[in-house]
Amino acid sequence: MEISVTLLICVILPVFFIFLIRTSRFRRFRLPPGTYGLPFIGETLQLISAYKTENPEPFIDERVNRYGPIFTTHVFGEPTVFSADSETNRFILLNEGKLFDCSYPGSISNLLGKQSLLLMKGALHKRMHSLTMSFGNSSIIRDHLLVDIDRLIRLNLDSWSDRIFLMEEAKKMTFEVTMKQLMSIDPGEWTESLRKEYGHVIEGFFTLPLPLFSTTYRRAIKARTKVAEALSLMVRDRRRERESGDEKKKDMLGAMLASGDNFSDELIIDFLLALLVGGFETTSTIMTLAVKFLTETPLALAQLKEEHDQIRAKKSDPDAAVEWCDYKSMEFTQCVVNETLRVANIIGGIFRRTRTDINIKGYTIPKGWKVFASFRAVHLDPNNYKDSRTFNPWRWQNTAEAPSPGNTYTPFGGGPRLCPGYELARVVLSVFLHRLVTRFSWVPAEEDKLVFFPTTRTKKRYPIIVQRRKT
Ligand code: HEM
Repeated sequence: MEISVTLLICVILPVFFIFLIRTSRFRRFRLPPGTYGLPFIGETLQLISAYKTENPEPFIDERVNRYGPIFTTHVFGEPTVFSADSETNRFILLNEGKLFDCSYPGSISNLLGKQSLLLMKGALHKRMHSLTMSFGNSSIIRDHLLVDIDRLIRLNLDSWSDRIFLMEEAKKMTFEVTMKQLMSIDPGEWTESLRKEYGHVIEGFFTLPLPLFSTTYRRAIKARTKVAEALSLMVRDRRRERESGDEKKKDMLGAMLASGDNFSDELIIDFLLALLVGGFETTSTIMTLAVKFLTETPLALAQLKEEHDQIRAKKSDPDAAVEWCDYKSMEFTQCVVNETLRVANIIGGIFRRTRTDINIKGYTIPKGWKVFASFRAVHLDPNNYKDSRTFNPWRWQNTAEAPSPGNTYTPFGGGPRLCPGYELARVVLSVFLHRLVTRFSWVPAEEDKLVFFPTTRTKKRYPIIVQRRKT
C-alpha cells in the first residue's frame, strides 16, 4: 500500500502534470481535433496493437471517421498530427527542408550513421540526392544496369529447387543487384557474409533502441560496425585504384570518388549503407507481394504471362537478355507494378518535424511537432480508388477512368526526398516477373502463408512450390 502511494506521489502525479503543462501550451492554437490518450504513452499502445490486427489501417480509419482526415494524437512520446489527406501530404512532401524536416527515430539514426542521405539536411542533402538520382535514372539503367539486373535474376532463378522461400530469394536477388549497382561487386562469399550482417542491421530498425535490454539491437549495432568495416576496405581499395589510374568501374562508388567533392570515407560508407537500406527490404517485399497478389488473381496472372510469353517468343534464345525496348513494351506489367505498390504500401507514410508554426486547412500545427503523412490511408481511400482494397491492375490501363496519379499516388514519396531508387525498383520487379512467369508456374505451399496486412514487414517468408515450364 505504502509503495503504491509513494509511486503515485513520486512518479505518476509529476508525469501527469508535466503532460498537462505540455499539452496546455498549445491551447492558443486551433489544433487538428484528436485525443492525446494516456500521459506520456499517449496512444502508442493503440497504434501498435492496431497494426497487429488483420485490418490494414484501423488506427487511422477509426480516427478519420471520428475527426476527419487530419487529426492530432500522441505517439512515441510526442504529440503528432496525422494526415490522411492527399493535398496535405503533398504540401508536407514539397515543403521538406523549408517548413518541415525529416525525422527518424533514434534507433534508425544510430544504425544508419550521421552522414546517411536519409538523415542529411540542407545543401549537402540536395547535392547527394541529385548525385543519387543521376545514378539511378533511366538512361543509366538502360545502358549499364539492365544487363546485370537480368543476369543476376536469371542466375538466381537457375538455382531454385522445387520449394523455395520467395521472400528469402527476393532479398538475395535485391542485395546482389544493389551491390552491383553501388560497387560493381558480383555475388560471392564476401557479399553473402555481408548480406547476413546486413540482415541483422535491418532487424535493429524494428526494435527498441536500448542496447542494455535488447539483444536484437546490440547485435544490430555490432553488425553495423562489421558492415562499415567491410565497406571501408572496399572504399580504400577503390581510392587506390583511382590513384593508380586503374579505376574504370561505372558504379555509384565510382561516381562519388570522381565527383570532385572530396567526400570523406565516413560519408561514403554511411551513404552506401543508406542506399542498401533504402532498396533492400522495400524491393524484395514488393517482389514477394506482387507474386502473392498475382497468385490470388488468376486472370491478372494469365494476362501477365501472355504479355511475357510474347516478348520471349520474339527471341531466338529464351535466355537472351531483356532489353530496354522489352521493358518498355511491358504495358500490363506496369499496371501490375503500380497496383502492387498501391495496395502493398511498403512505406506506409513518412514522419516529418515542423520547423515553424504551420497553418493548413484551417488548423495550426505548432513548431517542433511531428507530422505523419500517411500514403497508405490515401492509397486505400475509396474516394480515391474504387474498391480500394482490392488488387485490380486493370484500373491502371490507359482508359478515361484510369487514376491520374497526381496527389493520390505516392508510393515513392515526392519533393526533395523523392525515392532515388524508384525507377530501379520498377525495372527489377518487371524483369523478375518476366523471368518468373516465362520459366515457372507455382503454387503457395500450404503452411506459412504470407499475410501482407497489417504490415509488409512480415517475418513470413512465403514458401512456394515451383515447377519449370516446358519450353
Ligand atoms: C519498392 C521499392 C521502394 C519503395 C516503395 C521506396 C519508397 C521510398 C520512399 C517513400 C521514400 C521517401 C522517404 C521520405 O520522404 O522520407 C524513399 C526514399 C529513399 N529511397 Fe526508396 N523506395 C524503394 C526502393 C528504393 C531503392 C531500390 C533504392 C536504392 C537503390 C532506394 C533508396 C532510397 C533512398 C536513399 C531514400 C532517401 C532519399 C532522401 O532522403 O533523400 N529506394 N523511398
